[in-house]
Amino acid sequence: MRPQIICHMMTTLDGRIDGDRWNLPHSGRSVDEATVGYYDISDRLDAQAWMLGRNTVQIHHAPHSFDHDGLPLATQYEPFLSQRTTRRSLVVLDPKGRIRYEHGRIEGDDVIAVLSEQVSDAYLAHLRELDISYLFAGQDGHDLALAMQTLADLFGMRRVLLEGGGEVNGAFLKAGLIDEVSLMLYPGIDGLSGIHTLFECHGPAGLLPSAGATLELTHLERLQDDIVWLRYLIHRSALSSSAQP
Ligand SMILES: NC(=O)c1ccc[n+]([C@@H]2O[C@H](COP(=O)([O-])OP(=O)(O)OC[C@H]3O[C@@H](n4cnc5c(N)ncnc54)[C@H](OP(=O)(O)O)[C@@H]3O)[C@@H](O)[C@H]2O)c1
Repeated sequence: MRPQIICHMMTTLDGRIDGDRWNLPHSGRSVDEATVGYYDISDRLDAQAWMLGRNTVQIHHAPHSFDHDGLPLATQYEPFLSQRTTRRSLVVLDPKGRIRYEHGRIEGDDVIAVLSEQVSDAYLAHLRELDISYLFAGQDGHDLALAMQTLADLFGMRRVLLEGGGEVNGAFLKAGLIDEVSLMLYPGIDGLSGIHTLFECHGPAGLLPSAGATLELTHLERLQDDIVWLRYLIHRSALSSSAQP
């Protein structure tokens, strides 16, 4: 069993996700004022956790890095469950254990770290010291299906929001683990080639990460500042995984 996974993101019309580059909305308000509604919608989606990739966390929330140099690798890969104290948790996908935390909470939510089996013992001690729960996503930390199963089985998660960035969204898409996309379209155009988009999948040129999937529009709402909120359910046929090279 795994939780329901909703990918909740705000993008420009061209699908780009770097909010620092966005043009002002026509409403005359600032980008920050216009985009704050993203968090209201996130609350409305009523999930037990939101998930972020390591880059996004280091850019916006916890910039410091943990130095593993010369430290022995962990030998035990048992998940650690701290006493959770907040209604919602933040799941951080950080395979190499690069983030050095200052607190056990980010944005008021308890952190749960998803790791590979290549982190140092000292890193696990660092997390335990801050009461940060952790679990393992296989040898390289990329076994997202296993991580989601652990979130359901050990942490009791039934619905989680995947909130970027593009790299982790792409990894979940490729793994066929996204059940719904909640997309807030911001009235902007980035336009620069190479800027990250909603999904950044890696693989051979012929890879079709959505092969076999169909998308059903279940919600369409015009919000303040010319933002449009769309919800799409992803239906997958039995062929979806075998269609990928
Ligand atoms: N508009 C929005 O709604 C929104 C939301 C969130 C973020 N953002 C923007 O997104 C940008 C950052 O996104 P990003 O795509 O560069 O990075 P990201 O997705 O936040 O993080 C990528 C990192 O996550 C780790 N990771 C964990 N599991 C992985 C897996 N299975 N496959 C691949 N990587 C995995 C890797 O860390 P290691 O390199 O350590 O292995 C990888 O480099 C920022 O500009 C941020 O502002 C926008």
